[in-house]
Amino acid sequence: MEKEQTKWWQKAVIYQIYPRSFYDSNADGIGDLQGIIRKLPYLQELGIDAIWLSPVFRSPQDDNGYDISDYQDIDPIFGNLADMDELIAEGKKRGIRIIMDLVLNHSSDEHPWFLEAKKSRENPYHDFYVWRDGVEGEYPNDLKSAFCGPAWEWVPECGQYYLHQFSVKQPDLNWENPKLRQAVYDMINWWIDRGVGGFRLDVIDLIGKDTDNCVMAEGPMLHPFIREMSSHTFQRADLVTVGEAWSATPERAFLYSNPDGSELSMVFQFEHMVLDQQPGKEKWDLAPFPFVKFKKVFTKWQQALYQKGWNSLFLDNHDLPRAVSHFGNDEKYRVESAKMLATMIHGMQGTPYIYQGEELGMTNVRFDIEEYRDIELLNMYKERMEKGYEEQEIMRSIYSKGRDNARTPMQWDESANAGFTEGTPWIRCNPNYTLINAQEALVNQDSIFHYYQKLIALRKQEAVLIDGWYEPLMEEDENIFAYTRTNELEKLLVYCNFGDTTQTRTLPEEWNGGEVLISNYPDSKPDGSLRPYEAMMVKIKRG
Ligand code: NOJ
Repeated sequence: MEKEQTKWWQKAVIYQIYPRSFYDSNADGIGDLQGIIRKLPYLQELGIDAIWLSPVFRSPQDDNGYDISDYQDIDPIFGNLADMDELIAEGKKRGIRIIMDLVLNHSSDEHPWFLEAKKSRENPYHDFYVWRDGVEGEYPNDLKSAFCGPAWEWVPECGQYYLHQFSVKQPDLNWENPKLRQAVYDMINWWIDRGVGGFRLDVIDLIGKDTDNCVMAEGPMLHPFIREMSSHTFQRADLVTVGEAWSATPERAFLYSNPDGSELSMVFQFEHMVLDQQPGKEKWDLAPFPFVKFKKVFTKWQQALYQKGWNSLFLDNHDLPRAVSHFGNDEKYRVESAKMLATMIHGMQGTPYIYQGEELGMTNVRFDIEEYRDIELLNMYKERMEKGYEEQEIMRSIYSKGRDNARTPMQWDESANAGFTEGTPWIRCNPNYTLINAQEALVNQDSIFHYYQKLIALRKQEAVLIDGWYEPLMEEDENIFAYTRTNELEKLLVYCNFGDTTQTRTLPEEWNGGEVLISNYPDSKPDGSLRPYEAMMVKIKRG
């Protein structure tokens, strides 16, 4: 069978920017588009191919931009449309495409559509949102908002409730309405015409919901809606599209990322990210990290999607703890473990995503409650305090899972506020910026930054990283994460120690004398033994 042509995004590495925390060019304490433009040379040096930009659209910022009040304008805190055009053009000059973050499950309650919709049941925009009749005080059903409390809000003018799966300021859009869908497609096409490189689709698994039966994720209309959207928009250009789908299973991922291009390029699935929480409970209800299960989840996804779909590869983002704090050791072995995690994830098949600061080994924070900003975390704190939880226990959950761990300002240098702003940052900096910062990383040849740079370059050089079949090794091992990637010509071993003691195993003989492509200790050898958090990629020719 003739091999399908590799798409640009299958060889790409994507860097996620959380704009409000990236770089502030105008000293208002909030990162902005001109700030990103100034830092493009840094990203070019890292070698990334595209930027996923968390939302910069006009927004009241109730959920830091995931509440959009105008999809076709830029929020003034970030700049304006001219800045956006400049970013797209400057990115293009450096081979960096810009991926916009579309929030299509809900808008802001300050979007003109909603302002109209809530005026009356007869308003032409009323049906752009999800309403249910009811009596004030008696909710239509038991649906809960992801940010605490009921998912329904009463509007007296209409005598109805509207659905909000997130904050009360994020009403759910009604995808059942063809007029809404057409308005969304027109908007997406307007961005495609502006030259963007693709889209990340926020909680896209929620748009096909069956509200009355409380089926929110993976609802009956989900894939028909995505296929319709894709054919009206994404398929017009050579874009990358990635859907956020917390509920995805490999069987669903075949649909989402079908190589025929009928839906999206790939999805973010989170099975590997939620293993250290108690089953059926919230993310705040912590459980020990099951390492062997973690490996098996990767094996499942790597093998299931081989030639049938495409994986996205990530260990953190703006909603998740810092990778090195979550899965590594952010103290004594911070540098070694950050590089080890990068090796483990970049050796797999899929498109790797780097979240801003991950390439520096930025870590979680432990703030006082007044220093946090995230709506999700603050609502949870309040709710659990009211329910009588121990404050210490709540804080432990926040230190480990709070979204602000990932949202502290990017650490550029050791000057005040990590060189992020000349004003007062919207959220406190991680105090470790005097040690962990980009300026240090750029001069230090052994830095995590330079390690990522090398991994990104390897992805461009080594075909086996793109097309090799994934096979786990030492599956039940409690310390070692090992796997191979194999294509017709070559075989690659990814061999990582997740622990802080030296481990020795017997590797199959074929690896003796293999070429070490990259490793996080200067003299790594494929002899079976791994020092604390040691990692390597080893290549042999086949046949
Ligand atoms: C997922 C986004 O990543 C998160 O930051 C946001 O709060 C929710 N979707 C709601 O839009």
